[in-house]
Amino acid sequence: MSAQRPEIIRRVSAPDIAARKGKQPVVCLTAYTAPIAAILDEHCDLLLVGDSVGMVVHGLPNTVGVTLEMMILHGQAVMRAAKRAMVVVDMPFGSYEGAPEVAYANAARIMKETGAQGVKVESGPTVPATIDYMVKRGIPVMGHVGLRPQAVLVDGSFKAKGRTDEERARVLEEARATEAAGAFCIVVEGVAEALAREVTAAVGVPTIGIGASAGCDGQILVTDDMLGLFDWTPKFVRRYADLKGEIAAAAKAYADDVRARTFPGDAETYFSKKP
Ligand code: KIV
Repeated sequence: MSAQRPEIIRRVSAPDIAARKGKQPVVCLTAYTAPIAAILDEHCDLLLVGDSVGMVVHGLPNTVGVTLEMMILHGQAVMRAAKRAMVVVDMPFGSYEGAPEVAYANAARIMKETGAQGVKVESGPTVPATIDYMVKRGIPVMGHVGLRPQAVLVDGSFKAKGRTDEERARVLEEARATEAAGAFCIVVEGVAEALAREVTAAVGVPTIGIGASAGCDGQILVTDDMLGLFDWTPKFVRRYADLKGEIAAAAKAYADDVRARTFPGDAETYFSKKP
């Protein structure tokens, strides 16, 4: 008996995403868990295990407290379920901003322990040298410019970037340096449309916007935001569902049934076999 060749589903790769520039929009969403990754997989080109997991899932006030271990655990869960989309794991605050050798070791650990196809870093002034170091050693890297959530304690808030000439020039320079260092695409977060278009025209890899207008090559949203799990979301989020309302209604219906002793009913009960 000969073994049957298993069906091979080719996963989207970093070069596939890079080749989309100027051709086809890149569709990205965040994913932190296996069931959500399984649902999103067929609809997205790229799933980001974002460090937003710290705020969205773990209730942290910002992403500064997110650890490498948290990112690895969520990366593993997403990789078990996503079969087609490229999976990228965010490098958390403190894991890549120092020596490139340390950043490389942490990124390699993420790649080995999760099986993900790349990492994302926020491209502050010292980071392009690290991106270059990692890419040359085999790690696909996604950059992130504009509003950098991991810098919130320096910036003081999650405010949009690029409103002054100085800030505009800085974002543009960081995007150019990120591309030159070898990033396969660049998240552009929280910038006005004119700057998003300028960055997109200035770099040869796809820009992935979040709160950065339709002027980018692709888009990403935090999935829990667009599913309507929170009362408040930023202006740039479009809500495609009201999961908070649906979950609350389901929880109330369940509680009512338990209190009225109508759950469980016969359909949800095991009975012993008749002798
Ligand atoms: O952590 C995250 O979810 C992100 C996206 C918002 C781009 O970085």
